[in-house]
Amino acid sequence: MNITVLGATGGTGRLVVAQLLARRHSVRAAVRKPKKASSLGTDLVAFDLTSATPDDFAELFAGTDAVINAAATSSMMKRQADLVDRAGVIAAIEAAATLGVKRWIQVSMMGSGESGRVPVYLRATGQAKHAADTHLATAGMTWTVIRPPWLTDGPGAGTISVGERLPEGSLTRTDLAAVAVECLEASSTYDRMLEVTSGDLPVAEALRSLT
Ligand SMILES: NC(=O)c1ccc[n+]([C@@H]2O[C@H](COP(=O)([O-])OP(=O)(O)OC[C@H]3O[C@@H](n4cnc5c(N)ncnc54)[C@H](OP(=O)(O)O)[C@@H]3O)[C@@H](O)[C@H]2O)c1
Repeated sequence: MNITVLGATGGTGRLVVAQLLARRHSVRAAVRKPKKASSLGTDLVAFDLTSATPDDFAELFAGTDAVINAAATSSMMKRQADLVDRAGVIAAIEAAATLGVKRWIQVSMMGSGESGRVPVYLRATGQAKHAADTHLATAGMTWTVIRPPWLTDGPGAGTISVGERLPEGSLTRTDLAAVAVECLEASSTYDRMLEVTSGDLPVAEALRSLT
């Protein structure tokens, strides 16, 4: 498949790109500073969620079968969350749907939209992400929202828990990337919001076992 990855220079995004390439997908990486991203080893397109023009979207999504969005602002300020995670992502979703993209996989966060499940300092981010997640569900593409808890670095376990609502936990970015890649063609994940934490089932088996 032709996959466009947003946030391809991020901790999770880099792993998504590497895992897609390992599976022989064709990958276009959306990056803010292409000069700093040559080590991704794939097609790079300069792209910023806060300033993308219709021409930028047309270049980014041309020929794209599916998008994996792992972009997010690192700021905890409401203004930045609204600019990047809400308005920027919604604009990208709308553009992709209009340009004929059929599939969108969104990395969000556990508890977004439920203030009681998100620490105070992350509430603006959670609300912005929730707005984009719910918009995605109405945009006309086949969608999956993945809602991970606290992310860690290091090798993945290859095993997870997945469901519509899970207890707090943690997850490695490696396993999160594996979930995003596996979701591409796992019909059990279509048009769903799923929480994912570390767990006992191999990623593909966990996703297939969803009812
Ligand atoms: N960190 C956690 O514990 C945690 C917990 C739950 C959910 N999440 C979510 O999981 C996802 C991945 O998290 P992560 O920590 O791996 O990500 P990360 O390392 O913070 O990477 C974020 C990516 O988004 C890009 N980005 C930021 N602003 C952008 C903009 N205006 N336009 C385009 N791209 C932009 C960054 O580009 P640059 O490289 O140019 O900065 C970077 O590639 C995010 O959606 C995050 O909110 C994270």
